[in-house]
Amino acid sequence: MKRILVTGGLGYIGSHSVVELQQSGYDVVIVDNLSNSRRDVIDNIEAVTSVRPAFEEVDCTDMAAMQAVFDKYEGIQAIIHFAASKAVGESVQKPLLYYRNNIVSMLNLLELMPRYGVKGLVFSSSCTVYGEPDVLPVTEDAPIKPATSPYGNTKQINEEIIRDFVKVTEGVSAIMLRYFNPIGAHPSALLGELPNGVPQNLVPYITQTAIGIRKELSVFGDDYDTPDGSCIRDYINVVDLAKAHVVAIDRILAGKQDERVEVFNIGTGRGLSVLELVDLFQKATGVKLNYKIVGRREGDIEKVWADPRKANEVLGWKATTPVDETLLSAWRWQEKLREKGIQ
Ligand code: NAD
Ligand code: WQD
Repeated sequence: MKRILVTGGLGYIGSHSVVELQQSGYDVVIVDNLSNSRRDVIDNIEAVTSVRPAFEEVDCTDMAAMQAVFDKYEGIQAIIHFAASKAVGESVQKPLLYYRNNIVSMLNLLELMPRYGVKGLVFSSSCTVYGEPDVLPVTEDAPIKPATSPYGNTKQINEEIIRDFVKVTEGVSAIMLRYFNPIGAHPSALLGELPNGVPQNLVPYITQTAIGIRKELSVFGDDYDTPDGSCIRDYINVVDLAKAHVVAIDRILAGKQDERVEVFNIGTGRGLSVLELVDLFQKATGVKLNYKIVGRREGDIEKVWADPRKANEVLGWKATTPVDETLLSAWRWQEKLREKGIQ
C-alpha cells in the first residue's frame, strides 16, 4: 500500500481528504498538533472508512519531531501539506505567528523530502494569491497580486519556496492546488468544519445563525459592482475538493506530471453572490435565515471565481456536487454538532 503523510489531517479539508485517500487504497499517516482540531476526528474518520489512520500529535515546525515521524513510518511516498494557520484577520494581528507556523512547517517538510526519498508534495494554496483578478474567470496564469494579509502572503511565499526548491532537487515534484471557497461537510455528517469562536467565513456563520447560536448574519455590502450588489465567490464542496488531492497524489506517484511543479485551480467555475447563497441555503434546508445588509468588510475581494478547465482536463477532476446538496450537508453537520453538544 502506498503511504502518504497528511499534515493537518484532522482539520476541515484534511479530514475529508484522509477519507478519500483511504477509500482509494492509500495508507495514511496524519500529523496534526491539534491547534485547530479535535482528537476525536480520528474516530469519525474511522467510522466513515472502517480504517483508523495512524496519527502523531506533532507540530510541523518541530524539525526533530518531524524527523522522528519519517523514521517511524518508513516509505512515505508523498506528502499533502494542509497544516497551517488560516485566519486572515488574526494573521494581521499576529504576523509572526503566521509566518513562523506556515513558513517553518513548509521548510521542514521540504528539507526532509529528499532525505527520506519522498517523491512528491501537494500543497494547499488559495485563490487569495490572485487578489482582485483583472479577468474572470481566473486562470492559473493570472498575475499574482500583492498579498493583503500575512496569511495570504504565506501562501505566495510557500509557492515560491516550493518552486525554488524543486528546481534544484532531483526526484522531488509538487502540485499546488489553489482552492477557491471550500464549504459543506461529509454526507455522513461525521466530518465537517469546526470554527473556532465567532466564524469569519460565510457558511459556518449562516449555519450557526440558522441554528440560533448567532442572532443574524451580516451581509457585508450590497453596493459592489455585481448583479445584486453583494460579493461573488466560487464555493467548492469539501468532498469534491478532497478528491482533487487523491488525483493529484495519483498523478505524482504515476510520474505523469508535465512539469515538476504544477498548479491547478480547484473550483466549480461558477460564481455565486452572498445573497444568492443565502437564498439557496433557505431553499435547500427550508430554514429561514435572519440577515441584514451592513457595510463592506475591509479587504474583501469584490468578485472571484475559477476557470477550473486545467484541473478538469489535465487532472481529470471536476466539481460535481450541486450547491444545494452542499449547503444541506453543512446544515446537517451543524445539527449534528448541536446533538453532540459541541456547538
Ligand atoms: P483547519 O484549520 O481546519 O486545518 C488545519 C489543520 O492543521 C488543523 O487540524 C490544525 O490543528 C493543524 N495545524 C496547524 N498548524 C500546525 C502545525 N504547525 N503542525 C501540525 N498541525 C498543524 O484548516 P482547513 O480549512 O482544513 O485548511 C487546510 C489548508 O487549506 C490550510 O493550509 C489552509 O490555509 C488552506 N486553505 C483553506 C481554505 C479555506 O477556506 N478553508 C481556502 C484555501 C486554502
Ligand atoms: C465569503 C463572502 C464576505 C461572512 C476567505 C479568505 C481566503 C480563503 C477563504 C484561505 C465574502 C461574505 C462573510 C459574513 C458575509 N481562505 N460574508 N458575512 O473572504 O472569500 O475568503 O476564506 O485561503 O483567503 O480571505 O471567504 O467565507 O470569509 O466570505 O457577508 O459573516 O461572504 O464578505 O463576500 P473569503 P468568507
